[in-house]
Amino acid sequence: MHASDAAETPVNAEPPIRRHPEPLARVRRLLSMTLERPDPARAARFFEDFGLRSQTRVDESRADDSRADDSRALFGVPAHALVEVIRGPAIALRRLRFAADPDGLGALATCAGADAALGSDGAVERVSLVDPMGHVIDVVSASARRDETSSETRTETRTETPPPTDMSHARAARRVNAPLRLPARPPAIRHLGHVALEVVDFDRAVEWYTRTLGLLPSDIQVLDDGSPALVFLRCDQGPLPTEHHTIVLARSVENGFSHAAFAVDDVDALAMGQRVLRERGWRHGWGIGRHLMGSQLFDYWRDPWGQLMEHYADSDRHDAEHRPTVLPMTREAMAQWGPPMPADFVDTRLTPRRVATVLRNLRSEPALTLRRVLQLKRAMSP
Ligand SMILES: [Fe+2]
Repeated sequence: MHASDAAETPVNAEPPIRRHPEPLARVRRLLSMTLERPDPARAARFFEDFGLRSQTRVDESRADDSRADDSRALFGVPAHALVEVIRGPAIALRRLRFAADPDGLGALATCAGADAALGSDGAVERVSLVDPMGHVIDVVSASARRDETSSETRTETRTETPPPTDMSHARAARRVNAPLRLPARPPAIRHLGHVALEVVDFDRAVEWYTRTLGLLPSDIQVLDDGSPALVFLRCDQGPLPTEHHTIVLARSVENGFSHAAFAVDDVDALAMGQRVLRERGWRHGWGIGRHLMGSQLFDYWRDPWGQLMEHYADSDRHDAEHRPTVLPMTREAMAQWGPPMPADFVDTRLTPRRVATVLRNLRSEPALTLRRVLQLKRAMSP
């Protein structure tokens, strides 16, 4: 048996994470995220080579020449804002925005600490909440969602959207007298697909995301004692299929941001993206490969501060009936094929800063025990 086959064998167990029996709302999709970075212009240069279009935000309230503030909005194709970069000393995820079924927003507005905005008809249009790790979570009504199309990029959209690459298979020629000539440019980013978060109080985070946003577990990875350590959560649109994961929660020794992933069209877009990013001198993370859970083709890159950003294509999709699979938490279960995962892809080094954080969390977080720390390190060490 190949080493990865064992890791791909489902654990014969009832899923330790299920759909929440009484979700407050059901989010339909992830819209955008806000990142804090010390240098928004540098972040924008990376994201432009990654495939997004950048705009400097303009503060109309200022009359002088310095109306352009420092933050950047980054747009995909079609031109919806997917990333906002704000200036600040930290390298951190600050905010996520979701679109949700309108009928759940009233319930969200009653949550402790919720900040709600009403539309002209008195219905709740937007609710801002804070998740257990401190991220601001904006939920906007799918029916009231403003058109976030950038005026600058709106006109480009039609000309810049090529048809999907028609691929010939060994026994089915789809292209005849039609040579493939791909432009050497960053791929079109279609949407922000998912964000992966590292969390100390895993159970609390799972409870919050499944109850508050109605997310459903797609696949679960467990430690050697059977306790869940990673869950892939997707949006619940009933009979309509949604991508395998929108939020990933990973049990960790400290709270943090693992990566964000952006959808591109196909394997050509993914591989041309790799060529362009490599030629422009950015640091590669891992890929190209095909994940096991979610089945996506993937390619990871590091932004100027070393944070992982993923291009992906060909994700699994599930309707609300799909039951989660339970798998062991191992490095081998990360991919079906591709280059070996680089040793530094999951950072398990015990640096002085991390040792200090782990010691502090061991004292203050009942969810973290020394046994858990060792289990996690063993599961993800090369
Ligand atoms: Fe991912």
